[in-house]
Amino acid sequence: MKISIIGTGYVGLVSGVGFAKHGHEVICVDIDEDIVDSINNAIPPIYEEGLEELLEKVVDSGKLSATTDLQGAVEKTDITFICVGTPSREDGSIDTSAIESATEDVSEAIDEKNDYHIVVVKSTVTPGTTDGLIKSILESSGKKVGEDFGLGMNPEFLREGVALDDFLDPDRIVIGGWDEKSRETIKRVYESFDAPKLVTDIRTAEMIKYTSNALLATKISFANEMSRICEEVGIDVYDVMDGVGLDHRIKRDFLNAGPGFGGSCFPKDVKAIKNLAKKNDIKAELLEAVLFINSQQPIHTVEILEKKLGDLKGKNVTVLGLTFKGGTDDIRETRALPIVESLLEKGAKVTGYDPKGMDNFSEVIPSINYADSIEEALKDAEACIIQNDWDDFSKLEGKDFEVMKNKVVLDGRRVLDEEKLDKEIKYLSIGKGGLD
Ligand code: UDX
Repeated sequence: MKISIIGTGYVGLVSGVGFAKHGHEVICVDIDEDIVDSINNAIPPIYEEGLEELLEKVVDSGKLSATTDLQGAVEKTDITFICVGTPSREDGSIDTSAIESATEDVSEAIDEKNDYHIVVVKSTVTPGTTDGLIKSILESSGKKVGEDFGLGMNPEFLREGVALDDFLDPDRIVIGGWDEKSRETIKRVYESFDAPKLVTDIRTAEMIKYTSNALLATKISFANEMSRICEEVGIDVYDVMDGVGLDHRIKRDFLNAGPGFGGSCFPKDVKAIKNLAKKNDIKAELLEAVLFINSQQPIHTVEILEKKLGDLKGKNVTVLGLTFKGGTDDIRETRALPIVESLLEKGAKVTGYDPKGMDNFSEVIPSINYADSIEEALKDAEACIIQNDWDDFSKLEGKDFEVMKNKVVLDGRRVLDEEKLDKEIKYLSIGKGGLD
């Protein structure tokens, strides 16, 4: 099929490249000329594992191109996926300005078109947005959904850093459609994908996305709450979760205690669904608790260090890992930020290091030292906190900590093999009892 994609961030571009790999003809639309040029030169404007190679293939084969001409892209295609961002507002609700603007442009384009066209929202929007706000904008041209054009909602479940894998090998494909014709057409787009396809209505599709993320975030906060108990009673929560995760109803993933969850999705999505609940006079205490526990974990991480080192005032503390997780340069909602803020509040002298995130992080916190290497970052440090799971950190061994003045290592993401570390390293972690 001929597909247009509005928005070329990690959802839009990855989806476009993935569709093109499956043989569809794809036109990616962005308002930024430079991004359009970069894509047409097979240079991805974002970093994702495997994206560059696949983009080159689909651009060279003519299966994928990019343009700023949205009107022309809609005219030349059968179906349009809207993949623009829906960030959080102050009150936790989603900012729909970008998707409203994109939808207005699509509406104008459909108005000019005689053939039937389908509009599919892939952006994460709260239940009632697609068949409410989006539908009303699309119909503002006078055309009617169900008669002149189709409408659908097809959420993404992509993790940053592994987005292409997640797109090409999904656990499931959720297809919400306004009517049978919309649902059938979207199903045809995914015909060659070998994954369970769940066909439903639009609002259910919207809610599946939020509920998935809210439950994943809940698993993490649950693990973090259990870790607090384990710390007090001399148990390692990771051993506990190994046992719990063997239950086929629970599974082990997303039960790793640590400084908490960051990223552009979990915090935003949990706040958005909590806000929707509040708007409907539902209290959503559990979602409230998930966010509260997550806000406390970075502070608790520094408290663990304080318990070992005593007063942190004037002490050199290194934070290895500034992005919200390894494999990305994204620092949105990174737990490194509240950790560094807490260290600075306590008077520590902080050095930060990250393989890809230092440019972004130093824009938010310019005042700390930034090192060009792990060795430089650890030199003369009296403690270090490992905040994310870059491979560079999992490869560290005892000798790498030799340059520290005092070898206290708080392994926030359990990336090190404690058994391999020299005895003089005082190894700490989150969720492991017996920290005294
Ligand atoms: C998440 C969802 O996984 C994905 O399905 C959705 O489409 C977008 O949001 P992402 O935010 O890219 O993906 O990263 P993810 O790998 O899920 O990690 C999110 C955060 O949770 C990271 O800060 C990570 O460190 C943290 N995390 C993850 C934990 O603290 N414990 C865990 O067990 C797993």
